[in-house]
Amino acid sequence: MDVFASTDGPESDGHEQVVFCQDKQTGLKAIIAIYSTTLGPALGGTRFYPYATEAEALHDVLDLSRGMAYKNALAGLDLGGGKAVIWGDPERIKTEPLLRAYGRFVESLNGRYYTACDVGTYVADMDLVARETRFVTGRSVEHGGAGDSSVLTAWGVFQGMRAAAEHTWGSPTLAGRRVGVSGLGKVGKHLTGHLIDDGASVVATDVNSKALSWVRQAYPQVDVVADTQALITSDIDVYAPCALGGALDDDTVPALRASVVVGAANNQLAHPGIEKLLADRGVLYAPDYVVNAGGVIQVADEIDGFNFERAKLRATRIFDTTREILRLADAEGVPPAVAADRLAERRMAEVGRLRTIHLR
Ligand SMILES: NC(=O)c1ccc[n+]([C@@H]2O[C@H](COP(=O)([O-])OP(=O)(O)OC[C@H]3O[C@@H](n4cnc5c(N)ncnc54)[C@H](O)[C@@H]3O)[C@@H](O)[C@H]2O)c1
Repeated sequence: MDVFASTDGPESDGHEQVVFCQDKQTGLKAIIAIYSTTLGPALGGTRFYPYATEAEALHDVLDLSRGMAYKNALAGLDLGGGKAVIWGDPERIKTEPLLRAYGRFVESLNGRYYTACDVGTYVADMDLVARETRFVTGRSVEHGGAGDSSVLTAWGVFQGMRAAAEHTWGSPTLAGRRVGVSGLGKVGKHLTGHLIDDGASVVATDVNSKALSWVRQAYPQVDVVADTQALITSDIDVYAPCALGGALDDDTVPALRASVVVGAANNQLAHPGIEKLLADRGVLYAPDYVVNAGGVIQVADEIDGFNFERAKLRATRIFDTTREILRLADAEGVPPAVAADRLAERRMAEVGRLRTIHLR
């Protein structure tokens, strides 16, 4: 294991600690990045992905771990931000020994970092990781875990959408609004249910025919369109990107008919200038990392012994956080994404400072 720690190098961008882990026999190559433990142990998932180069893997983990610090801070958790990547094709190299070797490296950090699922890792993988470390969330219910985190992710997105509806139309409901859901995966499915229950009309799309069959069966009242382009140019009030990142770019924003964007997908803004483009077009964008924090709230609850109702209560507060961010954005004349960052930084500074009050 090769370990280095730096707080001000250009690569590490203010991270507390970046750990390279290698186990030749199993083929494990992982990087664990801890951006901040100001609010508590760093929590963030493990992405298992066939990066082209080590530099690409490092760049991703540094970026993602910083994002987790902001997300966890705004979710009201006593947790800092971290993330891990395992470099390789999970289809080819993921094995029990590799995951357990990874678990031992997580354990070696002695609780500075808690892991969870991300792209390429699943609940069953976390159950294996958990056989080597206590510092893991996202396990199956049978193993004391929170199970599928998309349940509260969707609930949190719905709460963020209610807050955006209140900000835009004066009432915290989607009743009578038309919502376009792009991506009927784990989150999109649950979200569609919440929207229908609330009285919204839903138009949806997915590239997967099974997902479309599911929605036709479960919610025949949902209109299905051919693709995301058809969805965003249709007569919708709210656009909910629930597929991949980069949903809002230089082509999609000018074409968008919706006046509100709230969705589960991570990294929806293709580049930083998109915030301004949205604002110039009068489109209200609720930052993705604020509204999709229900998943991390769900798995974080495992640390105290999972209780679904407690976690759901916390995810419901995404309504208040989104509302506060939108209010702050108006008051300070900045896009909601900037207001969200400011609120997260304020909490990290104000609550983090309390550690300087020594108790013994
Ligand atoms: N699951 C969680 O708890 C969670 C938490 C936070 C953020 N997110 C993010 O939310 C998004 C959805 O997560 P998920 O767990 O539902 O993933 P998923 O893989 O279950 O679902 C994604 C769906 O999007 C569809 N899709 C892919 N490309 C598409 C396209 N071009 N147009 C339309 N549909 C397309 C897929 O077919 C799939 O049905 C992801 O960006 C994920 O990173 C998920």
